[in-house]
Amino acid sequence: MMDEITAAIAAFIKDASREHLQDVLESMKRAMKAGEMILVPVEDGTAQRMTTTRADGTIAMVMYSGEEEASRSEGTVVSVELTAFLREVLKREEISGVEINPEGTRMFLPKAMIQTMLFEEQPQENEIFFEIGDITELECDCIVNAANSSLLRGGGVCGAIFRAAGWELDDACDAIGHCATGEAVITKGFQLKAPYIIHTVGPVYSGKKEDAALLASCYRKSLDLAMANEIHSIAFPAISTGIYGYPLEEACEIALVSVSNWLADHLDYGMAVIFSCFDQTTYNAYEKCINRIEGKETETC
Ligand code: APR
Repeated sequence: MMDEITAAIAAFIKDASREHLQDVLESMKRAMKAGEMILVPVEDGTAQRMTTTRADGTIAMVMYSGEEEASRSEGTVVSVELTAFLREVLKREEISGVEINPEGTRMFLPKAMIQTMLFEEQPQENEIFFEIGDITELECDCIVNAANSSLLRGGGVCGAIFRAAGWELDDACDAIGHCATGEAVITKGFQLKAPYIIHTVGPVYSGKKEDAALLASCYRKSLDLAMANEIHSIAFPAISTGIYGYPLEEACEIALVSVSNWLADHLDYGMAVIFSCFDQTTYNAYEKCINRIEGKETETC
């Protein structure tokens, strides 16, 4: 399959037609789907990816479409999964795209084209999943942080996300500065597998009527923001159910209802929503709520 990419690039170099470009993109998409590895040069003795400065002054990451092309590299070459590599390119702000085979059949793939390829692979249907485990480990377009309104590094899931994303996240959050309760803001995912993080601030549980509306707003506004950024898979923790003290089952029901309502209002968008459950207790709470909601629906039928 990597030979296919090499051949498609060679054909494009000879004749830069739309069809040949389409062939390059299609062969890359097939390689992504098959989980193919590509070759990437790194600085000697480190895992630091090599970059190249293009004629227009922008910086591109380098990849090779095959062994022969890679043999011309001056650096050490390592094998990396194509999809993971392209996601990494999207996450790095200073990078303008990928220079493929810079010493041979040189071809530049701008970030916008990579973005289209990656997001085209997303499901066209809306789906809901439940995953037990650490949200920072999930491979989806975006994970949601149960943030505080100052967007500072906190405890709970917030602490786990900041630790996994690295110090660049503190700087990105400082630059935004504030997020009101029930609202959402977006940053990159930095060192996370997910390219984006949406930070939403749940209510501190007070037992008042407003709590539910604010919590529902967190889910709705996060999904709106995700759609505005062409995100098609998003993982939510159980917002407000830890340090902010929201009773677990009540919060899970609000989460399920507001997400289901949003998905019903956006049937053609194709959003996969993952409810990330840190433990079995959270998973059981969602399960109980689904049974209760379905029971209610049956009763009224
Ligand atoms: N992955 C998934 N879920 C997690 C993880 C994780 N790594 N760590 C904790 N959780 C779960 C908790 O079990 C809880 O159900 O996230 C849920 C939300 O708990 P908190 O993180 O305490 O969030 P919240 O109640 O909304 O309080 C927000 O806590 O960390 C601070 O800065 C944050 O001030 C804000 C407040």
